[in-house]
Amino acid sequence: MKEYNFAVVGATGLVGRKMLQILEERNLPIKSLRLFASAKSAGMKIRCGDIEAVVEDLADSDFSGIDIALFSAGGSRSREFAPKFVEAGTVVIDNSSAFRMEKDVPLVVPEINPHRITKGKREIISNPNCSTIQLVIVLKPLHDNFGIERLVVSTYQAVSGSGKSGQNQLQAERNGEEVTNPFYPHQIDANCLPDIGKLNEKTGYFDEEEKVINETRKILEDYSIKVTCTAVRVPVWTSHSESVNVQLKKEASLNEIRRVLQEMPGLVVVDNPVKHIYPLAVDAAEKDEVFVGRIRKDPSIDNGIDMWVVSDNLRKGAATNAVQIAQKWININEE
Ligand SMILES: NC(=O)c1ccc[n+]([C@@H]2O[C@H](COP(=O)([O-])OP(=O)(O)OC[C@H]3O[C@@H](n4cnc5c(N)ncnc54)[C@H](OP(=O)(O)O)[C@@H]3O)[C@@H](O)[C@H]2O)c1
Repeated sequence: MKEYNFAVVGATGLVGRKMLQILEERNLPIKSLRLFASAKSAGMKIRCGDIEAVVEDLADSDFSGIDIALFSAGGSRSREFAPKFVEAGTVVIDNSSAFRMEKDVPLVVPEINPHRITKGKREIISNPNCSTIQLVIVLKPLHDNFGIERLVVSTYQAVSGSGKSGQNQLQAERNGEEVTNPFYPHQIDANCLPDIGKLNEKTGYFDEEEKVINETRKILEDYSIKVTCTAVRVPVWTSHSESVNVQLKKEASLNEIRRVLQEMPGLVVVDNPVKHIYPLAVDAAEKDEVFVGRIRKDPSIDNGIDMWVVSDNLRKGAATNAVQIAQKWININEE
């Protein structure tokens, strides 16, 4: 098999380190590996399988000769550097929101729309928002089989979704330490914050909510789906949970719904509430699948169903999905 020159940008972060772990777990064909982060991490050594690489300062490096770069260093780094990598001949798989809604940029979940990857093209491919990825994995089979009219999504998002800063604040609060430079606008321990990202003062939505709304329609390629979302940060270390209310276009029995969900790749139905068995954040952590349970009819609307959806935000919500895109890109280009 052909081998490729890889790079991870943001290699010292929560997502970047997870990417390195998953590149190794999935045995990607790595010929060489370059790692980039900020100047303060330059010189640090990080392992990925048998390879030990030295972290380089992104602002002060030459990036020629890289085939595939996984970016997870924040939107402003992506906006500045991803186009330069592409110009140098690299396909960039970008975890930030910088390019997701651009018309010509593919927004890919490999189980759903791998056809958006163009063979032979070194371009930017966006990885969707973590809450969106787990949501669309559940929605895709429902939309294909019954059509989706409307969605009401409420998220319960882990602090690891905010990177090292979110985890550090929760840890400090739990240790009873004074938090001198808090990441969140309020205490996060023993609390729930309906405040993720930047507020759009015109609409009243925070941008995490807008990402779920807009990206869901783009990935499902149906802008007629009505979506609303409330995104909430909760004091959970890892895995995002979501309450999802769906109004289908066609009537479907719970058995039919369960059957199409069970057939969806990457999705696991965990649904035996009599025995208190349903998806849990602690069980989903360190797994690559999306888990769905509490599947029931919503009698308050026509063709309504309610579900509870959980997945590891650092894995399927970020690093696993990015590595799967890299794998698909390789497969498509070697066909
Ligand atoms: N956490 C999640 O669940 C999740 C899910 C989906 C997408 N994302 C996206 O992934 C990205 C990274 O998230 P994260 O959770 O891994 O954050 P993180 O733990 O805070 O890590 C941030 C990374 O970016 C690097 N970085 C920061 N400023 C930089 C600069 N000026 N130049 C070069 N590198 C710089 C950091 O390097 P230093 O260590 O040197 O500062 C670190 O490697 C963000 O765009 C985020 O929105 C995160």
